[in-house]
Amino acid sequence: MPRGPIQDADRQAVATFLEQHWPGGAVFSHGRLFHPHREQGFVELRNGKIVGLLTYAVDHGVMRIITLNRTLQGEGIGTALTLMTIDHARQNNVTRIWLTTTNDNLPALRFYQRLGFRIIQVSVGAMDKARKLKPDIPEVGYSGIPIHDELVLELYLMPHIYPGQTGMFPAIP
Ligand SMILES: CC(C)(COP(=O)(O)OP(=O)(O)OC[C@H]1O[C@@H](n2cnc3c(N)ncnc32)[C@H](O)[C@@H]1OP(=O)(O)O)[C@@H](O)C(=O)NCCC(=O)NCCS
Repeated sequence: MPRGPIQDADRQAVATFLEQHWPGGAVFSHGRLFHPHREQGFVELRNGKIVGLLTYAVDHGVMRIITLNRTLQGEGIGTALTLMTIDHARQNNVTRIWLTTTNDNLPALRFYQRLGFRIIQVSVGAMDKARKLKPDIPEVGYSGIPIHDELVLELYLMPHIYPGQTGMFPAIP
C-alpha cells in the first residue's frame, strides 16, 4: 500500500525516519513531551521506503497531530497524509484536530492554514521554556528566525448535523 496507516511491520522504519527528523525520540508539543514512534499515524511509501509520515494521538475526542514530515517535495505528500488523517478523524467522531508549530515555521503555517486550520493560541515564550526540558531544541529556525513561541492550530470538524450527510459543510436541505 503506497499510503495508509502505520502497520506493525513499519515500526522500525518509522522509528528510524522519526529519528532523522526529530532526533532524540521525543517531541515537545502542547506543553508536554510525546514519543511519536509509539503513536498511531499514516505513512507514504515509495518502493517500500517511507517518504512521508504523520503521527497523531487521540484523547477525549481531540486528535493531536504530533509530527508531519516528507522527504519528497512538490508531490503533495503532506496534503495527502493530512487529508487521510482528517478522514480518519471524522470516521472516529473526532471533532477537533489540534497541532502545534513554532513561530519560525512559516512553511507549516502556510500549509495548515491552506487546509483550513486556524491559529487558536499563541504561547509566548513556550519554546524558551521547553528548551530547559529539552536543550536540543534549536535557538534559530526557518529563515534565521529565532524560535521562542508555540502556536496552536485547530481544525474544527463540524458534527454531522443531517443524517446520511458526511461533508464538513453539509448542504442545507
Ligand atoms: C509541512 C510539510 C509537511 C508540507 O508538506 P508538502 O508535501 O511540502 O506540502 P504540500 O502537500 O502542500 O505539497 C507541496 C507542493 O506539492 C504540490 N502538489 C503536487 N501534487 C499535489 C497534489 N496531488 N495535492 C496537493 N499538492 C500537490 C503542491 O502544489 C505544493 O506546491 P505549493 O506549495 O507550491 O502549492 C513539509 O513542508 C515538511 O515536511 N516540513 C518540515 C516539517 C514540518 O515543519 N512539519 C510540520 C510541523 S509538525
